[in-house]
Amino acid sequence: MARRSLALLAVVLAYLQVVSATSWLRQFTTDGTVRKGYDASGQQVVMLKLDRNSGAAGLNSKQQYLYGEFSFEMKLIRGNSAGTVSCFYLSSGTDDWRDEIDMEFMGNSSGQPVVLNTNVWANGDGKKEHQFNLWFDPSADYHTYTIIWNPTNILFKVDNVFIRSFKRYADLPYPSSKPMTLHATLWDGSYWATEKGKIPIDWNSAPFVVSYRSFYANACVAGGACNAGRGGWMRKRLNGAELGTVRWAERNYMRYNYCQDGWRFPQGLPAECSRK
Ligand SMILES: *[C@@H]1O[C@H](CO)[C@@H](O)[C@H](O)[C@H]1NC(C)=O
Repeated sequence: MARRSLALLAVVLAYLQVVSATSWLRQFTTDGTVRKGYDASGQQVVMLKLDRNSGAAGLNSKQQYLYGEFSFEMKLIRGNSAGTVSCFYLSSGTDDWRDEIDMEFMGNSSGQPVVLNTNVWANGDGKKEHQFNLWFDPSADYHTYTIIWNPTNILFKVDNVFIRSFKRYADLPYPSSKPMTLHATLWDGSYWATEKGKIPIDWNSAPFVVSYRSFYANACVAGGACNAGRGGWMRKRLNGAELGTVRWAERNYMRYNYCQDGWRFPQGLPAECSRK
């Protein structure tokens, strides 16, 4: 490409980034009660609300992606959020062979820890949870939650801390061919979210509100452009220090690991559990 058109492209890309920072909601369709506003710094904030009558609220990306780096800043529900689930996930659909990558926040009674559930589904098998208590109050302020999905691994990050890497093995199912829609949703997960369903939603605490801002997607769009070079997400693997933060999170904050749940897998743990 000629140097001049490259320079022009750079200008256009810079402009697109500014536009997406201020009005990223345009990249989504919405369900349920969704409110938008701007915070003190001029950033667009989108709030999902849940009350007894409204049903689930959510955002669904208009584009579908096949690999990418995705993040949101989220401020979770204040006070009693038991029974609610706020999340950010990629999904190829609702069929029995779907692929999915989840970051789900399971609410709790006031003052009790919110649990972050990370999960990967490949070909409809989604029993691969790693769950963590967070080391801060996720309702007090915005924190950045990131999913990096590339052909070698799926990485989960909280602020600047990697907490999980899900590796691909050539002989095991891995999300690699089905384009996924990105969703951000808030729903009533009373039947499982808090202490395995013991604490349902208390509608007296409604409306429940979760706020999202700073949507970021550096991704391959299905059937379109693939901006894979920038930031190196396409080739990203954890380095030694980053593997160290994964071990730190596992040692100090992990509350569930499917690879340690023999009761759930009487025929033996999933194959990747015994791989390096
Ligand atoms: C809620 O709080 C209880 C008590 O501290 C804790 O055992 C549980 O892991 C917390 N999270 C969920 C999602 O139940």
